[in-house]
Amino acid sequence: MMTSWTPALWRERPAAQQPTYPDAAHLERSLAQLRQLPPLVTSLEILTLKRHLAEAAEGKRFLLQGGDCAESFAECDSTTITNRLKVLLQMSVVLVHGLKLPVVRIGRFAGQYAKPRSADLEERNGVSLPSYRGDIVNAPEFTAEARRPDPERLLRAHAHSAMTMNFVRALIDGGFADLHHPEYWDLGWVEHSPLQRDYRRMVEAIGESVRFMETLAGETLGSFTRVDFFTSHEALLLHYEEAVTRQVPRNPGWFNLSTHFPWIGMRTAALDGAHAQYCRGIQNPVGLKVGPTVTPDQLLPVIDFLNPQNEPGKLTLIHRMGAAKIGTALPPLLDAVRREGKQVLWCADPMHGNTESTANGFKTRRFDNIRSELDQAFDIHTAAGTRLGGAHLELTGENVTECMGGARDLTETDLERAYKSTVDPRLNYEQSLEIAMLIVRKRGGHSSQEG
Ligand code: PEP
Ligand code: CO
Repeated sequence: MMTSWTPALWRERPAAQQPTYPDAAHLERSLAQLRQLPPLVTSLEILTLKRHLAEAAEGKRFLLQGGDCAESFAECDSTTITNRLKVLLQMSVVLVHGLKLPVVRIGRFAGQYAKPRSADLEERNGVSLPSYRGDIVNAPEFTAEARRPDPERLLRAHAHSAMTMNFVRALIDGGFADLHHPEYWDLGWVEHSPLQRDYRRMVEAIGESVRFMETLAGETLGSFTRVDFFTSHEALLLHYEEAVTRQVPRNPGWFNLSTHFPWIGMRTAALDGAHAQYCRGIQNPVGLKVGPTVTPDQLLPVIDFLNPQNEPGKLTLIHRMGAAKIGTALPPLLDAVRREGKQVLWCADPMHGNTESTANGFKTRRFDNIRSELDQAFDIHTAAGTRLGGAHLELTGENVTECMGGARDLTETDLERAYKSTVDPRLNYEQSLEIAMLIVRKRGGHSSQEG
């Protein structure tokens, strides 16, 4: 059945959330160039990640997926990239220490440039222009020139992904993630964080274990000097994804070689839509966002469509329900998936169901709601006899005030101080660490008995 699949097959189905390029010939020229460019990741890495995700579903690893809601070309810089890595490394130290499990680290970076929007057009003062769909499509400024979908941006997105990937790989290979040097991940601007004491204690305990192991082994152990980082982005702009989908000499099938882990967003998750058609044919592990209106009758056929062989590690279901809805929306899905014996990794995104707007016009999320959704998610999985094996978060290493609450109890007025996101509000450093500690409290206690 799958032998007839090709990367272009999605074109036969309705494709939601695609821009309209005014110049079709220009689009074709850009795509032809894109098809020539070298890959950003390898099939071997992709298959390794798929195996790790299968192990996370078995409770042998925990998935931490995090990064920006959307990357931007302007912020493809050294400070933004290193600060984001630092937060993810600090969180993963907390998780490794508390869960006693290896952590699968997937960044929402090196390609997270396309955004779904609620409307094709945006209107301001009687002027109507195409919505901003992420830097891979157009620019956020409200002018006709900036908002015109520009196919050159496909190539710029690929180049910026490659630059990001290159820098992350160089940092990791150069020892940036070395457990002997946790000071490399300190964020310059963090002063007297209320959570720093706990974090330092964990780092010291890990340092001691590392020294102990190395004393036993009589040498410096290479496995403590590096970690794996995988990349992910929403597989939204299908012309782009098609052009980076390739065959390789030694592994059968088609691979999206622009990222390790593409995911299907909630707005493009229809069974008969183009995005599902594209994602079912690639060998990459894929994520599927699941929102609060999805019923078991809708979800099960999508699971079968995306993963007809029920292959472990292939499919991660990322539920994003909202703190108020998860209690009723999630249990029927967990029951159905378990009853039907579907092999999936369950991952919680406590961000996207909790977005709201303040009176002064900021898109924000209350930290209490984020924490509550994650907290409930663990309990709901335990009650259902399923396992929550990962968390999906929007966060940044920059000193922002975008989500309210958290250790410093940010209020509505604080949002004005350092709100930088052009799209969704992100957790800042302290809010991110607090989430990692919450995961340890919830999951650490019973990981072995579930094991
Ligand atoms: C996102 O992850 O940024 C996103 C748009 O999520 P969702 O599809 O779950 O709304
Ligand atoms: Co988002």
